[in-house]
Amino acid sequence: MAAYPDDLPDSWRRTVRSVLLRWYRRHARCLPWRESADPYRVWISEIMLQQTTIAAVTPYFERFCRRFPDVDRLANAPEHEVLRLWEGLGYYSRARNLHRAARIVVDRHGGHFPESVAELEALPGIGPYTARAVASFAFGRPVGILETNTQRLYARLIELNEPVSASASRRLLWNFADWVVSPRQPGRFNQAAMDIGSTICVPRSPDCSVCPLKTHCSAFRNGRQHELPIVADRPRTTAVTEVALAIQRGPRVLMRQIADGERWAGLWDFVRFPVSNDQGDRLQRLPPA
Ligand code: ADE
Repeated sequence: MAAYPDDLPDSWRRTVRSVLLRWYRRHARCLPWRESADPYRVWISEIMLQQTTIAAVTPYFERFCRRFPDVDRLANAPEHEVLRLWEGLGYYSRARNLHRAARIVVDRHGGHFPESVAELEALPGIGPYTARAVASFAFGRPVGILETNTQRLYARLIELNEPVSASASRRLLWNFADWVVSPRQPGRFNQAAMDIGSTICVPRSPDCSVCPLKTHCSAFRNGRQHELPIVADRPRTTAVTEVALAIQRGPRVLMRQIADGERWAGLWDFVRFPVSNDQGDRLQRLPPA
């Protein structure tokens, strides 16, 4: 049975807050975007971390912040330069939205990030999670967060017996995230929950023996941590085979800028076209001329 909201007293919430914050003092991961609470750096890191691992993001984050150390420099840069620093990270609409949002922060907010969730969510590329991450990590706003790691942790803590992606579950988990967050240290609390979710309360073999929350976890108490959270089937991906032509004349290589409306719009790429998947199996790589 889901324990929240009926079966969880305020004393449970107070203990969870203090256990989590104590754990974080000793075990917080050292990550470059945690070195300061600068909303600009928090924002850049959160956009980069969408659908991308920490290991992949770290060098991009450091290079990006060296080149564009604040929102003014980003807003004043040409878009192609922003895209160049993003090349290889994928999901390029993130970079375009980042650039548009920087211009809005400079033009409409005098170069200062808005602090409220509603104003942050009004910026391009900022959804509910990112708005709450920036509001809590950078501005100490007492709001919860929900992304894959906290979602899994919270679904187990309250033993949620419905698919986590169902709209009623999402609502319940968001409410829980807001209810449980520490009002005094929301940024540290949220990051602690995220760290436990990604290092201990992992999807397949959660390491409950070292979890500071095990005695407060309804799934662990009932031996159900391996069954939860309930996740609906993932959408199927489609395999696409493409041929790219690397055409060189002397030191020059033929590139084309990808048109609006195509995948990777605005980036530079070799000329490429799709072939059927079985044709792809028969293609051979030619040696350089
Ligand atoms: N994933 C998304 N945001 C993160 C953060 N601030 N720290 C670690 N992992 C994250």
